[in-house]
Amino acid sequence: CGIVGYIGNKETKEVLYSGLSKLEYRGYDSAGISILSDDGLMKTFKSVGKLANLGGIIKDSEILGHVGIGHTRWATHGVPSTRNSHPHNSQDNKLSLVHNGIIENYAELREGLKNKGYKFLSDTDTEVIVHLLADNYTGDLVESVFKILPILDGAYAIGVISSEEPDVLVTARKGSPLVIGLGTDEKYIASDVPAILEYTDRVIFLEDGDVALLKKDEIKIWDLERNEKTTEETKIEWSLEAAEKGGYEHFTLKEIHEQPAVISETLKGKIKGDSAIIDEITLTEEELKNITKIHMVACGTSYHAALVGKYMIEQELRIPVEVEVASEFRYKNPIIAKTDLVILISQSGETADTLAGLREAKKSGAKAIGIINVMGSTISREADGTVYTNAGLEIGVASTKAFVSQLVALYILTLYLGEKKDILGVERRRYIIENLRKLPNIVDKILEIEDDIKEKASILDGVVSSIFIGRNINTAIAYEGALKLKEISYIHAEGYQSGELKHGPIALINEECPLIAIATKSDTYDKVKSNIEEVRARGGKVLTVATVGDVEIAEISDEVIYIPEIDELFSPVINVIPLQILSYYAAVNRGVDVDKPRNLAKSVTVE
Ligand code: G6P
Repeated sequence: CGIVGYIGNKETKEVLYSGLSKLEYRGYDSAGISILSDDGLMKTFKSVGKLANLGGIIKDSEILGHVGIGHTRWATHGVPSTRNSHPHNSQDNKLSLVHNGIIENYAELREGLKNKGYKFLSDTDTEVIVHLLADNYTGDLVESVFKILPILDGAYAIGVISSEEPDVLVTARKGSPLVIGLGTDEKYIASDVPAILEYTDRVIFLEDGDVALLKKDEIKIWDLERNEKTTEETKIEWSLEAAEKGGYEHFTLKEIHEQPAVISETLKGKIKGDSAIIDEITLTEEELKNITKIHMVACGTSYHAALVGKYMIEQELRIPVEVEVASEFRYKNPIIAKTDLVILISQSGETADTLAGLREAKKSGAKAIGIINVMGSTISREADGTVYTNAGLEIGVASTKAFVSQLVALYILTLYLGEKKDILGVERRRYIIENLRKLPNIVDKILEIEDDIKEKASILDGVVSSIFIGRNINTAIAYEGALKLKEISYIHAEGYQSGELKHGPIALINEECPLIAIATKSDTYDKVKSNIEEVRARGGKVLTVATVGDVEIAEISDEVIYIPEIDELFSPVINVIPLQILSYYAAVNRGVDVDKPRNLAKSVTVE
């Protein structure tokens, strides 16, 4: 799930290993590198499990070379094993290849190659690419790449080197991200900027269908039709510091603590006076006025942000919003009118299903905008505008600060649409803006009671399952609280609309299955309170997130986390914070690798 590559005068082994270590956060189960050594031999090393295992193998090996590729693999076809991990090499060991994505017609291609006498050493779809390359190779790597790409169905980002061309690194992408790093007399490739940030902040984001030929001092990029393109350099603003823990035990905790600053960053430059300004949106005034329906499409935590967005927009703008998980949206033949607006929410801007959702939307002629964190990512480039969330680099696999920044971006978008469509008057906009500006301080106050929340996390000691409830705009926060807990602590958790509790989930409540309730001040506060009473009456344990000063709630809860008061409309932003902290400490108490939970990947660029 992560690619790095290097050509230049540095010690290639070090560059590749350091790059892979920076990609660890994306999730992986095996890793490998290939270096073309100065004596002309392709040297490949692979290992399952943690990257340190590979580190142990290559540490003492003398591999001097000036071109190489590396990969961390998150298994799709074939179990995690050394055999299946990348790089994959041609039979004569001349070519070595790393690949992200899935080749959908690999079975058919494999049969063809087998008939030609090629022997397959792995169960991966990737291996067909390297044999196809070998089959077409006549000493010109980029030529053979051009020949085989049209045969591949599916998604790919590849890096490939040849022992016959020691001064060449070839890369190509379709559907999976790839970035080229520029240095003086050296070039890098990576699936994600952090892998190369230590060495350069000058990058080129490859576009879908691009093929690039890299030499130490030269770079050429073509589209799939072989038209040479002009290269567009981007300067990365993220500091290297962002990729370090800065004194925190885990990135996840660091990122939870960054949230007050992140909220300010998301707002920065997007609010002027009583208006929201989103320069990147390319829709005309008329197109904006004509919008009568909105679809929001996302995965995972970003999907929960979309659910909050639905309540927000429907309540404030009275425009109907349909929210769909991207993997469903893309195949359900969605009903999208030309005047609908489709909003894609994605931290990475690369999630395969969400990207497919964008393309589906564009096919129907509707306008689509992204709420995206990573600048230059595919969705942000293909959409008719992007609201950047400016959360900075998020390393923890489970999303925290990116989620909060997505919520803030949704408020900004609500303001923007509300003004453009003459729905929100200046008074209401001013009120929303005032509240948004209060959020960083309030979140800070919640972070101050971290120790108290940490103590209360003991309610989750030894439990096997848990149920989270919330209502109305906070239903999605119950979902998100449950997702966070299961992702990082491996405690089973379900999020429910509080009114649904008695229609099933309450049957699970016992000593080993507590209730986590969001019962902050809201129009439905009394209803949620009744739900808590119902659980208490059945002997269930309850931890409640409540508004400071609410003494009554303490009488019906085992534990209460008190947080400051805010208008219900903005409460999701603050209610999620104690739940993140709770999950974090539940995970730490269980000894889980919080930043890299098992089986999960940060950026899911395959279907
Ligand atoms: C993965 C990550 C989640 C994330 C989801 C969507 O599952 O582990 O944390 O919410 O992908 O990612 P995106 O980049 O599209 O927001």
